[in-house]
Amino acid sequence: MSTEVAKRKTVSVGLSELTQHNIENLKKLVGLCFPIQYEDDFYEKCHLNYNELSRFATVKDIIVGAVSCRLEKEEDSDKFFVHIMILLTYEKYRRLGIAHQLMQFVYKVVSNASFPVEYYDLHVQKVNQSAVNFYLKEGFEVVEELKDYYDIENGDALHMRKKVERDPNAPPLAAPSALQKTITEKHKKGKAKGAKKIEQKAAEEEAAN
Ligand code: ACO
Repeated sequence: MSTEVAKRKTVSVGLSELTQHNIENLKKLVGLCFPIQYEDDFYEKCHLNYNELSRFATVKDIIVGAVSCRLEKEEDSDKFFVHIMILLTYEKYRRLGIAHQLMQFVYKVVSNASFPVEYYDLHVQKVNQSAVNFYLKEGFEVVEELKDYYDIENGDALHMRKKVERDPNAPPLAAPSALQKTITEKHKKGKAKGAKKIEQKAAEEEAAN
C-alpha cells in the first residue's frame, strides 16, 4: 500500500494595499461573496483608516481575495483586540490557501505590534459552514451564539475568538501608538442589528467625537 499522502493544492498570492484607486474592487468582491453590503463610507475607511490591517490577495495581478480588520479597545478595560470585518476569497479561487495567507499577514502585523493586543475576533453567520470551518482550522473558538444578529434570513451569528501569539522576536512592548490610529470604535457588547447599522453607528460616534 502506498504511504504517499495527497498534497493539497495551494497557490501563492501577492499582497497589495487598499487604495482609493482599487477600493471599488473590495466593494465588488463583498457584493459577490457576502449576503450583506456596506455603506460607501465603510470602504473609504478600509483604505484610509484600516490599511495597516487590510490587504488584497492577488494572483498574476488579479485581485482574488481580501481581508480588512480594525484595532479596537474593550469598552470596560484597557485590552486591545483586532476585529476581522472582511475576509473573502473569490469563488473560483477557494480551497487554495488564499484566506489562510491573508490571515497570516494579519497575524504577522499584530504579533509584532508595539503594544499588547490580546485577541482576534469576528462574527460569522452560523449557517456559513465554510467560513466557520475555516476559522476553526485557524484556531478560533466560538465564544457565543448571537440570535438574529444580522437582519437577513438565517441571521444567527457566531462570535469567534483567537488569542494573539506574540512573536518572540518582536520589539519590546511600549505604549499603544503604531496601530492605534486605526481604532475608531469601542467594542459594543450584545445584539447588533446588522453590519450596515453597526457601521452607521460607528460613523455617528466618530462624527460626535
Ligand atoms: N468547507 C470545509 N472547510 C473549509 C472550506 C469549506 N468550504 N473552506 C475552507 N475550509 C477550511 C479547510 O480546512 C481549509 O483547508 P483544506 O483546504 O486544506 O481542507 C482551510 O479552511 C483553509 O482554507 P483556504 O483555502 O485558506 O480558504 P479560502 O481561500 O477558500 O477562503 C473563505 C475561505 C474566506 C471562508 C471563503 O470560503 C469565502 O470567501 N467565503 C465567502 C465569504 C465569507 O463567508 N467570508 C467569511 C465571513 S466572516 C468574516 O468575514 C469575519
